[in-house]
Amino acid sequence: MAEERTFVAIKPDGVERGLIGEIIGRFEKRGLKLVGLKLMTVTTSKAEEHYGEHKGKPFFDGLIKFITSGPIVAMCWEGKNAIVLARSVIGATNPKDATPGTIRGDLAVDLGRNVVHGSDSAASAEREIGIFFSKQELLEDWQRTIHKWIVE
Ligand code: RTP
Ligand code: MG
Repeated sequence: MAEERTFVAIKPDGVERGLIGEIIGRFEKRGLKLVGLKLMTVTTSKAEEHYGEHKGKPFFDGLIKFITSGPIVAMCWEGKNAIVLARSVIGATNPKDATPGTIRGDLAVDLGRNVVHGSDSAASAEREIGIFFSKQELLEDWQRTIHKWIVE
């Protein structure tokens, strides 16, 4: 009985700034379960596929250049309402609008350096998990003993 899954990535600015532990800790503390994790550099073709919905927009080329400029941390998080929960942990796209307490509201300043990505819908989550992870790289049968203290 797999719960919802979402794709989250720490972007090159978050890795470069030494925020990996800080960011992962926020999703752990919220109660989500980590089922996939890897440090990787994104190829241009993967980046263009991932951000395909933004192709043709004025910021597209800069976005692709940025996301391929250094290592990222690709993650898959699982849990009840994981997609919406992860987006709420992350905060508004533009850090100037992000609420304090969110990752972008606490750790970011600029729209083009907003340190983390999270899938925005069930369809995006499925698509993005498929771009970044093979089936064997995702845990299928890890039952956390604390689960009953997080979900009723
Ligand atoms: P992400 O996909 O990275 O999690 O961010 P998001 O859903 O909150 O925002 P989205 O609309 O998907 O935009 C993707 C990334 O593109 C950059 N962006 N720049 N200059 C602009 O108008 C503009 N709009 C978006 C941001 O870095 C955003 O995270
Ligand atoms: Mg997005």
